[in-house]
Amino acid sequence: MNINLQSFQTLETPFYYYDLDLLHETLRAAVDEASKHYFELHYAVKANANPRLLEVINRHGLGADCVSGNEIRAAIAAGFPADTIVYAGVGKTDREIRLALEAGIGCFNCESFPELEVINGLAASLGVRARVALRVNPNVDAHTHHHITTGMEENKFGFQLDEVVEAVDRCRFLPHLNWMGLHFHVGSQITDPTVFRALVDRVNDLQSFLVECGMAPAEVNFGGGLGVDYDDPDGCPVPDFATYFGIFADHFEAREGQRVHFEPGRSIVAQCGTLVSRVTFVKEGRHKRFVILDAGMSDLIRPALYQAHHRIENLTNPSGETAVYDVVGPICESADCFDKEVVLPIAHRGDLVALRSCGAYGEVMASRYNLRDLPAARFAGV
Ligand SMILES: Cc1ncc(COP(=O)(O)O)c(C=O)c1O
Repeated sequence: MNINLQSFQTLETPFYYYDLDLLHETLRAAVDEASKHYFELHYAVKANANPRLLEVINRHGLGADCVSGNEIRAAIAAGFPADTIVYAGVGKTDREIRLALEAGIGCFNCESFPELEVINGLAASLGVRARVALRVNPNVDAHTHHHITTGMEENKFGFQLDEVVEAVDRCRFLPHLNWMGLHFHVGSQITDPTVFRALVDRVNDLQSFLVECGMAPAEVNFGGGLGVDYDDPDGCPVPDFATYFGIFADHFEAREGQRVHFEPGRSIVAQCGTLVSRVTFVKEGRHKRFVILDAGMSDLIRPALYQAHHRIENLTNPSGETAVYDVVGPICESADCFDKEVVLPIAHRGDLVALRSCGAYGEVMASRYNLRDLPAARFAGV
């Protein structure tokens, strides 16, 4: 990580710090590997919608994957061409659908029969045809935290496999829809390659079946999900995109001329972001020692929400004698804890502390709980 400790000393904490050089390096790797196979990338804006990051990501030629009207607005404001935007979500409102139709987005990833009817009706009222893909729930277990598993039958997302033929029929019947193909997304922070292999096998089977039914999809979108190394951000700053895309290139039975899309979020932005905080107090309890930071779960909710692990480093005192601490925030919730029983160099009031790999699902999930200020964002690089 490219950190200038001196320059941090005078800054108010907490803040998100983004290493834009690393973001460029990550984007170059992702685009290089995807383009070897003619795969098209749409950055998942939900991972981090900071305008400066969106602008950098757009410069590398990715499209955008959005899940709300405001994400569509943010993507367009950052320069993403509307026709490279795909739009998923189980609860798109009429207002959001209208906004997407008026903007002329590339594709709606539709998740239910009533949604197809509503998009058709709104497209009719605007005198346009909406391009739609069907989000299919492939019933593949992502082997990740249950809050970020999305492709199992019990999850709310997408059509069930046995509904797909009827859904394609419906798209073809509705005059203001143009059926483009299939969309999948089975979960996030997936580090087990066999999950992606299982997804490809499921998609191959479904595609063969649809082709037999005379319903060949022109496009397939495999969503996002590639995980990052939260334990060793310096050892693995850039995810292994070659292996990831290689699984799809080697095993997906693409049809002639078929377009293949991906929606990476975390794998693009996680490692370039660090949450920088200060030690407010070191509290010596009877049973435990607490490092109390000025950052809390309102700034970074992942540990509280997903029991996520972020590497914690004392920037002021990076080496030397160590102690065991619970590292917590100031918020009135017991869940406001970043890590328990972590071995760190001895901490003192005023030390700067880094929570690493916070670029994805960090700043974008910050809230004003306890009426705290939202964290600032700072950047190195252009
Ligand atoms: C539909 C969809 N696509 C893409 C993503 C991005 O996933 P990730 O950040 O794991 O790459 C998500 C995240 O939940 C999603 O819901």
